[in-house]
Amino acid sequence: MRRPLIAGNWKMNLNRSDAVALATSLAGVKATDDVDVLVCPSNVYLDAVSSAVSGSKVAVGAQDVYFEPNGAFTGETSTDMLSDVGCSYVILGHSERRNVIGEPDELINKKIKAVLAAGLTPVLCVGELLEEREAGRTMEVVTSQFEGSLASIGEADVRKTVIAYEPVWAIGTGKTASPEQAQEVHADLRKLLAERYNQDTADSVRILYGGSVKPDNAAMLMSQPDIDGALVGGASLKPDSFAAIIDASAPKPAT
Ligand code: PGA
Repeated sequence: MRRPLIAGNWKMNLNRSDAVALATSLAGVKATDDVDVLVCPSNVYLDAVSSAVSGSKVAVGAQDVYFEPNGAFTGETSTDMLSDVGCSYVILGHSERRNVIGEPDELINKKIKAVLAAGLTPVLCVGELLEEREAGRTMEVVTSQFEGSLASIGEADVRKTVIAYEPVWAIGTGKTASPEQAQEVHADLRKLLAERYNQDTADSVRILYGGSVKPDNAAMLMSQPDIDGALVGGASLKPDSFAAIIDASAPKPAT
């Protein structure tokens, strides 16, 4: 049984007081008993947000990291620094880092290895551009990101990894993948995990969906068998909408 994970990717948004207020309100949301909740603020507010959620079940993550442990890497942040300010997760390979900043799979792979070595949980993002979907290349693209990002990562480590399928055309556009479109790719990703590792590993890895997740589509997406949670951008910036998504993702008692 995979426990749902709802992650808020706050990107380059919010100031200190808004980030702390949002984190504080999420720390009191009741569904956190049934759902893992993660917030990923800007690095400069990690410390303040960690303090705001301390003692609650809300986890804190970063939106990126560098793979070297320390040294002359101006502007970068290490895994130790993230641990030091209370992070337990790191988003890696987000489409904005792949497509806007230009990060290749080899770099993402080095970062995942550093994150795992530091005992943090990577959230690896994969997803196709609109033109790639329209050309029927979705699984080709996602498979190549999967293979490249997870190169030489063993079974024990992949079991500690979270994967997020985020079709780029659905991010910040208000266009959500339909539950069926998302489920299809999630099932294929799980098949890739089974082929590369084994079925037991494939069944244990959480695969999140991301791309315009909102309170009114979260339950339908989460009802798909291979969707284990959500990576939420815009709708994670407001306490009410993020709390509603968490609520909609709580496992429903069997009727
Ligand atoms: P969105 O962003 O929910 O605003 O579409 C999702 C993401 O980029 O992780």
